[in-house]
Amino acid sequence: MTETPSIVLGVTGSIAAYKSLELVGRLRRKGCKVTVIMTANACKLIGPASFEALSGNPVALELFPDSKPQNIEHISLAQLADVLAIVPASANFIAKAAAGLADDLLTTVALAVKAPVLFAPAMNVDMWENPVVRRNVKQMTALGWKMVEPETGRLACGTTGSGRLASLDRIESEILVSLGWRDDLKGLPLLITAGRTEEPWDPVRYISNRSSGRMGMALASAAARRGAKVTLISGPGDVPAPEVFKHIPVLTAAQMHQAVQRELPRNKALIMAAAVADYAPKNIASGKIKKKNDGDITLTLKRNPDIIQLASAKRKPGTLLVGFALETDNLVANAREKLIAKDLDLIVANPAKTLSGENIQAVIIDKRGGTIKLPAMPKPKLADLILDRVAKLTGAA
Ligand SMILES: Cc1cc2nc3c(=O)[nH]c(=O)nc-3n(C[C@H](O)[C@H](O)[C@H](O)COP(=O)(O)O)c2cc1C
Repeated sequence: MTETPSIVLGVTGSIAAYKSLELVGRLRRKGCKVTVIMTANACKLIGPASFEALSGNPVALELFPDSKPQNIEHISLAQLADVLAIVPASANFIAKAAAGLADDLLTTVALAVKAPVLFAPAMNVDMWENPVVRRNVKQMTALGWKMVEPETGRLACGTTGSGRLASLDRIESEILVSLGWRDDLKGLPLLITAGRTEEPWDPVRYISNRSSGRMGMALASAAARRGAKVTLISGPGDVPAPEVFKHIPVLTAAQMHQAVQRELPRNKALIMAAAVADYAPKNIASGKIKKKNDGDITLTLKRNPDIIQLASAKRKPGTLLVGFALETDNLVANAREKLIAKDLDLIVANPAKTLSGENIQAVIIDKRGGTIKLPAMPKPKLADLILDRVAKLTGAA
C-alpha cells in the first residue's frame, strides 16, 4: 500500500446512496484517496457530480465508456483499490455479486479486485429478511467478503425494522480496519505542536527557520486516524493541517507557549514537534523600518520561552512529554542531555539535514536510556512509530 490509501467506493441503487456522500468526505479527511463507481440505478437516485466534487476524482460509470480510456478501466480500478467498499449495497447488487455476475462496471471490478471487499447493505426490511437475500449474504460472508450488517430502525419506506444502512461511524471504522489501520489511541486527548514560529521585527518582516511542518502534521494526522482526540497548535508551515478535534493556529513562540499552557491540563500527552524560534526580536517596530542608503542595522534578540521545559515544570503527574531535538553535531549525546534537563519521557533526535525534507532519519531516546536508531524513512512512518511508543507509555495500547 502507498502512503495514501486508495478506497474504491461502489454506490448502488439504494435510497441510502446520499449517505455515501458524507462517507467520501470522512475518508478523505482521514487522508484516503477515494474513487467512486456508481451503478446506472444509483445515478437515478443521486447525481455523480456531487461524488465527483467531494472525491476530487471523476466518477466511473461505464464498462464500455464512449471515450476510450488509456487502460482497461475495470482492471485498473480493481488494481487501484486498497479496499473496495460497496456502500450502500442493494439487494440486487448483492445477488449479482454472490452469483459472480459481471454485467456492469461495478460487478466486474468486484470480481477482479484482490483487495478486501466490504458491503454495507441497505434495503427495506422485507427485502433484507427475504430468504434469498439471507442466503446470498451467508454465501458471500463464507467467501470472505465482509458485511457491515444493517441496523434496525425507521426505514425510508416508512416501516420500522432491520435494513437501515449501518452508521457511517461503523462503516468508516470497518474500512479503516480493512486497511490495516489501528484505533489504539481511541479517545486519548493528545496535544501536538507543529510548524515553525515567525518572530516579527516590524509589520512586514520576521525571523524564522526552515521547518516545513511535515513531521508535526504527520503526527497529528496519524494520531487522529488512530482515534486520538488531537488538539493541534500549529505555526506556519508548507503542508496543510489535517482534520483534528481542535486546531489552534498561532504565529509566534509566545502565542504557542500561551496556547500550550492553556491546553496541556486537558491532555494526557504533549508531542512538541514545532520548530520554535529560540530568539525573537526584542523590539517590534509599529511601522515598516525604512531602508537606509548605507550602513548596517542591529537587531537585538531576546530569549523566547522554552515551551516544553515550562510545560514539564507545570504538568500534572502522569502527563507524558515528547520532545524533538534537531542537532548538527553530537546528535545522541545532545539529545539525551536535553531529555534529562527538561525531564522528558521521550526525545526524537534528528540531524538538521532532515529539517524540510519528505524523509527523516531519527533516533528515539527514552528516559530509561533506551535508544532506537532508525533508518531514513518517510515522516508519516516515523509518526506511527512515535505514536506506538506514546500508546504504550500512556497505557492506551
Ligand atoms: C426510490 C427507490 C429506492 C430504492 N431503494 C432501494 C434500497 O434501499 N435497497 C435496495 O436494495 N433496492 C432499492 N431500490 C431498488 C433498486 O434500485 C433496484 O433493485 C435496482 O435494480 C438496483 O440496481 P443496482 O443494484 O444495479 O444499483 C430502490 C428503488 C427506488 C426506485
